[in-house]
Parts: sequence; structure tokens; C-alpha cells
Amino acid sequence: LAGDEVLVVSNREPYLHMHTRNGVEVRRPASGLVTAVEPVMRACSGTWIAHGSGSADRDAVDRNDRVPVPPANPSYTLRRVWLTKEEEEGYYYGFANEGLWPLCHIAHVRPVFRSGDWDQYVQVNQRFADAVIKEARTDDPVVLAQDYHFALLPRMVREVLPKATIITFWHIPWPNPESFGICPWREEILEGLLGSTTLGFHTEFHCKNFLETVDRYLEARIEHEVSTISYGGKLTKVEDYPISIAWPEAEDGPGVAESRTSIRQELGLPANQLLGIGVDRLDYTKGIIERFQAIEKMLEQHPEMVGRFSMVQIAAPSRSSLDEYQNFEARVRSLVQRINRRFGNSNYEPILLKVEHHDSDQVNRYYRAADVCLVTSLHDGMNLVAKEFIAARDDEHGVLILSQFTGAARELHEALIVNPYHIEQGAEAIYRALTMPEIEQRERMRSMRSLVKDFNIYRWAGRMLLDASRLRQRERIMTK
Ligand code: G6P
Repeated sequence: LAGDEVLVVSNREPYLHMHTRNGVEVRRPASGLVTAVEPVMRACSGTWIAHGSGSADRDAVDRNDRVPVPPANPSYTLRRVWLTKEEEEGYYYGFANEGLWPLCHIAHVRPVFRSGDWDQYVQVNQRFADAVIKEARTDDPVVLAQDYHFALLPRMVREVLPKATIITFWHIPWPNPESFGICPWREEILEGLLGSTTLGFHTEFHCKNFLETVDRYLEARIEHEVSTISYGGKLTKVEDYPISIAWPEAEDGPGVAESRTSIRQELGLPANQLLGIGVDRLDYTKGIIERFQAIEKMLEQHPEMVGRFSMVQIAAPSRSSLDEYQNFEARVRSLVQRINRRFGNSNYEPILLKVEHHDSDQVNRYYRAADVCLVTSLHDGMNLVAKEFIAARDDEHGVLILSQFTGAARELHEALIVNPYHIEQGAEAIYRALTMPEIEQRERMRSMRSLVKDFNIYRWAGRMLLDASRLRQRERIMTK
């Protein structure tokens, strides 16, 4: 795609300008999508269109709402779109996060669909589609539409720029047709997505669910063998592209030995304390409650671990104005209190819960200091924490416990794979991780590291862009 114009659209922006006590600071959000797509944009320049949500965002842009990023060493343009309070309420909090998020995660939180939210969702999709059209300098740009916030945008862009190559990536799971069918606007969502040239999911399983959903609710022609959908005279290729991370540079921050010591000192723990780490947004899909219950069970079954093992849970606050998230936070906090009361004393607490934003350097130090990393999502598109932990462990030590309900579990077979709903199994896995011989840790870690290093984020983007470029080439030839 050399020479082609690349436009990314996502709700979350890669950089937020924030007013703080020390003046304006730039912050990176806790978002798997941003972690993955940002290195790709750095490499291919272009324009990233996103919701300007930082408190100082408006002060940082030029007259056209643009700001060059990364701030320290700009290589592409961030174009901010401003949303009104009503738009943010209806489109982001309402339809996207009370409707589509639980709908697609099947996490036993009942999705809520309100007509008013849907209206805002349609309107905001149109506003972002207009921004894409306005930013485009050619009639055939490559548009990378990101995630469940923009199901309608591909079609809206296609109507005005029929020659655009629209690559849409759905970063969360796609449920089966029965589950998806409860969405009152299911046909509109499917039609919107079918404006894409390519539609990507993390796993083959999600692709199949999508094809079956289209089959159930639209009059479309589906070629299962080549995974294409023909609808309204337009062809969409549906394909799995498991997302990944940028492999870190060799000397990226303090090493394992230094992190092990300094983190334990900062936490006031003995030098040989066994340490578990969890890094998630404070979200009900992440299995944080089940994780703590497994820790409780492990401590109950192995009393010698009481006092020896500490779990640090970094929980980035997220969508906290929604009831469901507030209830979840309260449940997590009270469970931690109960477990700490049960097994702790005045100088020991088994679970250290840190509900605050941490930047990636801080998180990396924790990854390096830990003996075990726990990823116990009840359902998760990919989960990049699993891959980040592996990438951080150049000492080839440390054990990953990984939920079978993540996309990552389809690739990282050498992790200790668990069903997060099975508390006893989780407890056993934690104990096994903490007592695993070094040689076994090394074997497992080495194998996972070579996979993540090879199948990194550039491979993800490269495959998707290459596939799209072939389709584009073909279309040019056919329409000559
Ligand atoms: C998931 C979604 C992303 C989203 C991120 C953080 O990873 O797939 O689209 O950005 O969660 O959520 P937030 O609502 O804070 O952007």
C-alpha cells in the first residue's frame, strides 16, 4: 500500500492531553486497541480520527482539530472529533457499552438497548464518517475502522467513497446468532459492517459466528469456503487476524533483577516474596472476582503460602459512570477486604488492589517482578496483557495463567490454561505456577516468546493490509 493514504477511525484516542496540578500532561489510555494500533500508525504515518476526550485536548489542537503525535517525536496526525454530552451518553456509554459490549461478551450482564442511545450511535457514526470523508485527500483512501463503536461507519463511508478500501477490525468477540439476535437493530449493524472490504476478528470462531449471524438475519450470499459475503452488490471478506503487540527493544526499562528487588521494596515485601500480577481495566468481563476467589481457595488449601504469596492487582478505572461498573468495583473491593481480613495481619495482605492508572513503564516493572501473571477473563477478544507479560520476560521465567475464553489461549498453548469459572482448578493452577521448576518455566516461556516475537503487531497489520491490497488490485483490474 506504499503511497496510499491511511485513515484510522476509533473511539479511543492514542494520546489524551490532561490538565493536572503540574500543568498539561499527555497520557496513554488503558486500551488493547490503542496498544496494538499505535505502533502501526507510527510506522505508516497517515491520520487517526478519534474522540477528543482529554480535559486539555481542545487546547492542544490546531484550527482543524489536528495535533501531530507522538508528542515527543511526531510521525502521524491525530484528528479529534468532539462529542456533546448527549452524544457521549447515548453513543459511548449507552449503545456501545451498555448494549454492544455485554451483548458480545456474553458475560451474564444483560445488555440494555434504548432507542435514544441508538439514535446517538447512528448520529455519531455519521459524524465520524463525515470526518473520514473530509480528511480524505483521494477518492480511494485506505480506512481502518476500529471496533464496536463504529459498526455503521463502513457503509456510510462506502456510500460517498465507493472506491475506498475499508478494513474494519472488531476487537471484541462476536457471539452466536441467537445471542446477537436480541439486538433490536441487528440488521442495521450487519449492513453497516458489510460496507467493509475486509472485516477482521481475532479468531476463526468469531468469523464463523459472524457468517452464521449474517446468514440468519440478512438475504446475503455467503461463500463459506473462501469466507466472503456478497450483499447489495458488494463483496466483504471475513478473516481472522489475531492481534498482537510490538516486540520490545532489548534495553526497554529496568531489567528483571532490578524490578524484582525494587517492586518488593516499594510494596514493603520481603525480598523472596512470591508475587502474582494482574493488569486489567476494572471491567466485569475480566474475571477479577473469580481470580481472587481462586487465590482464596489456594491459600485455604496451602496454608504454607499464607504470608509467602502476595497478589498485586492493577485495575485501571473504566467507564465508571455506568452503574454496572460501579457495582462491580464495590463487589471487588469488598471481596478483597474479606480475603485480606481472613488471611492477613497487621503487616501482611494477600491482595494488594491498586485502582488507578499506571503507565506502561510501571506495568512492565510489575511484569518483570512477578512470578506468575493471572489472566482470567470470562470472555475476551484477544487479551494483550498475556502477550505483554511474555514480551517483558527476557529472563525466560515466570508463569502465565490464561483463561480458555481468551483469543490468546488459541495461540499460547504453553500457558497454564484454566476455566475461570472453575475456582478449584484456578487455585490448583496458581499453586502449580508458584512451585513450577525453573526448567519447565523456561521451556514454556521460551516457546511462547518465540511465537509472540514472530506474530507481532506488524505481522497483524501487514497481513490485513496485504490482503486488502490484493483485493484492491483485483477490483482495479476488474473495473477497467
Ligand atoms: C477494549 C475495547 C477498546 C477500548 C478498550 C478500553 O479493549 O475493545 O475499543 O478502547 O477496551 O475501553 P474504553 O471504553 O476506556 O475505551
